[in-house]
Amino acid sequence: MAEGTSARPRVFVARRIPDEGLSAVSAACDTDVWPDELPPPRDELLRRVAGCDGILTLLTDRVDDELLDAAGSRLRVVSNYAVGFDNVDVSACARRGVAVGNTPGVLTETTADLAWALLMAAARRLPEGDRYVRAGRWRTWGPMLLLGPDVHGATIGIVGFGRIGQAVARRARGFGMEILYHDVTRLPDEVTAPLGASYAPLDELLARSDFVSLHVNLTPETRHLINEATLASMKPTAVLVNTSRGPVVDQAALAAALRDGTIWAAGLDVTDPEPIAMDDPLVGLDNCLIVPHIASATRATRGKMAAMAAANLLAGVRGELLPTPVVAASSS
Ligand code: DGY
Repeated sequence: MAEGTSARPRVFVARRIPDEGLSAVSAACDTDVWPDELPPPRDELLRRVAGCDGILTLLTDRVDDELLDAAGSRLRVVSNYAVGFDNVDVSACARRGVAVGNTPGVLTETTADLAWALLMAAARRLPEGDRYVRAGRWRTWGPMLLLGPDVHGATIGIVGFGRIGQAVARRARGFGMEILYHDVTRLPDEVTAPLGASYAPLDELLARSDFVSLHVNLTPETRHLINEATLASMKPTAVLVNTSRGPVVDQAALAAALRDGTIWAAGLDVTDPEPIAMDDPLVGLDNCLIVPHIASATRATRGKMAAMAAANLLAGVRGELLPTPVVAASSS
């Protein structure tokens, strides 16, 4: 349909998302879907959003003044297909009256499952064991082979005690762990008591925990929260798990800490940058497990995220309140 003759809203969808969301969007809007596996190159993204009423973005698409300028004055909504929204300049959107939506809640349990999988796999050395078998090195049962720490009964420190951090605590409770949490504010006893979680200042949490799991949003305050100094305050037997955002960890400092035995192992779902450079020192370390930002990657959850992102997009282009507008918070 030629520009200007369509009564339907025009939207750009920055990647193919599950049908649970895409079909509703396509049914209601003139929809341009970026078809590739890789994100649209910046110049292409700027070109495609021009004249749109709504944009459905992914965490790989930077939404800033440049993009908002390129979109133009019709733009009413940016719907981010993620709970995290550090790729979106929310203030720039607010200045222009552009609503911003995200997908909270639906990926909580799935993300906590993956954090738990990383914790277990890094502790019990599953990737190393798998590589060992496939390399034909398995010759006998070995009393000292691939030893790791116990997970059950250990102490876990959860940094960022929002929905996902609390879901990790529920799993830790099932493993009989002592649970410490840190967040910018202490949570009410009604929340923490059923989880058996106790507040600790960050330095105390890091010093006492056998496992540290990160669940903060990426903000200027949390960038490199885990750095040379904070790593040095952790136990030499500690395992670090990151399913939040890569830049929360100073990656060079983490590589040095894993290499020198400052901490014992790490399990990462997120890196800085993404994808991680293949010459990054972390890639060569056996005690660092890395997966490609898949914490929410189950069919059911990605479908729910798509439906939620579509609902935000459609509400926004109609000038209605978004079902899940972005709410700034320190943890997801
Ligand atoms: C998010 O939603 O922020 C995750 O990182 C991707 O699901």
